[in-house]
Amino acid sequence: MRFVEQNLVWHIGNGDVIKFWTHFWAPNVGPLNGYDVNIVSDDEMLQEQIRNVYTNDVLIGWKPPLDSSIKVDSNGYFLNLLEGKVALITGAASGIGEETVRLFAKNGALVIAVDVQDELGQQVEASIGSEKVTYHHCDVRDEKQVEESIKFTLEKHGRIDVLFSNAGIIGSLSGILELDLKEFDNTMATNVRGAAAMMKHAARAMVAKSIRGSIICTTSVSACIGGTGPHGYTTSKHALLGLVRSACSELGAYGIRVNSISPYGVATPLACRAFNLEPHEVEANSCSQANLKGVVLKARHIAEAALYLASDEAVYISGHNLVVDGGFSVVNCSTNSVAPVYTNNQ
Ligand SMILES: NC(=O)c1ccc[n+]([C@@H]2O[C@H](COP(=O)([O-])OP(=O)(O)OC[C@H]3O[C@@H](n4cnc5c(N)ncnc54)[C@H](O)[C@@H]3O)[C@@H](O)[C@H]2O)c1
Repeated sequence: MRFVEQNLVWHIGNGDVIKFWTHFWAPNVGPLNGYDVNIVSDDEMLQEQIRNVYTNDVLIGWKPPLDSSIKVDSNGYFLNLLEGKVALITGAASGIGEETVRLFAKNGALVIAVDVQDELGQQVEASIGSEKVTYHHCDVRDEKQVEESIKFTLEKHGRIDVLFSNAGIIGSLSGILELDLKEFDNTMATNVRGAAAMMKHAARAMVAKSIRGSIICTTSVSACIGGTGPHGYTTSKHALLGLVRSACSELGAYGIRVNSISPYGVATPLACRAFNLEPHEVEANSCSQANLKGVVLKARHIAEAALYLASDEAVYISGHNLVVDGGFSVVNCSTNSVAPVYTNNQ
């Protein structure tokens, strides 16, 4: 039996779809441990039949997995895109960071999950398993803590291949006329200085060990245009994009790639708290303003972008700002009233 058969979708006579799912799909793990079986049918006889087939290991056929995080090659072998890589993720206890920890771990990475929300971070570690994910406290505004996190990563795993510098805050929503400069400084310290410190120490470790690593920062559509976030936030994300491009110009000599991801609105605690909205309200707002209709942007979509940039699939991508906004930041619908032919929003 080939391990690819651990993931099956069978189309049975009457159109019922039966999915077989397993958590173990790496070629070197060996087949048939720990199935999580989900039979999409209320026909009990059919279910029983399937169980028998399943327990006898008689496998009828398979189709590529439905879960987009699981990649397969043309022979059906599962690809662990980050197998053997060590990744440090900041802002890992919540939202986009948490989702990325899960996806990276699923793709074979050993993850150091860094945040200041210790309880949540520890929950993330426990829910995935401490053999794959280790939570570590670090306030990215403090260079000493940043340096210590890299040291911790090296002591634990001996290397660092990927830095996903994702921790961020939205800061004060106040207008420019009432700008609170203390708040402004704190936003810059977290979103820019924190990322710079992380980049500095992670890159040092990569260079020292001749690792052709990948550094990814979470910017925002607010790094591309004004009016999509508070002033301090927009300033910080523009600055962070500048840092990504600047660092890329230096680190290319060492084979280290530096990129960023610019998400549009995602219903994470950051967005919900900032506007005092429930997740579904944030999503409704985002959808109503979105250019690309029919898809609700989720943290998972940003994690997918990070997975790509972290992996060897993106081996020649550096200095790139991967905008995950469905075209929001490059489309201006203001001509719609004059020339409705350009859009579909008539
Ligand atoms: N949610 C969105 O709509 C959106 C859009 C564009 C960009 N972003 C960016 O995505 C990134 C992740 O945000 P999110 O939406 O997942 O929000 P989130 O609040 O769910 O996650 C951010 C995490 O960063 C951590 N963090 C904050 N300050 C820190 C510090 N000083 N040191 C260490 N960790 C710290 C928080 O504790 C939190 O766990 C941020 O950089 C944010 O600016 C978010």
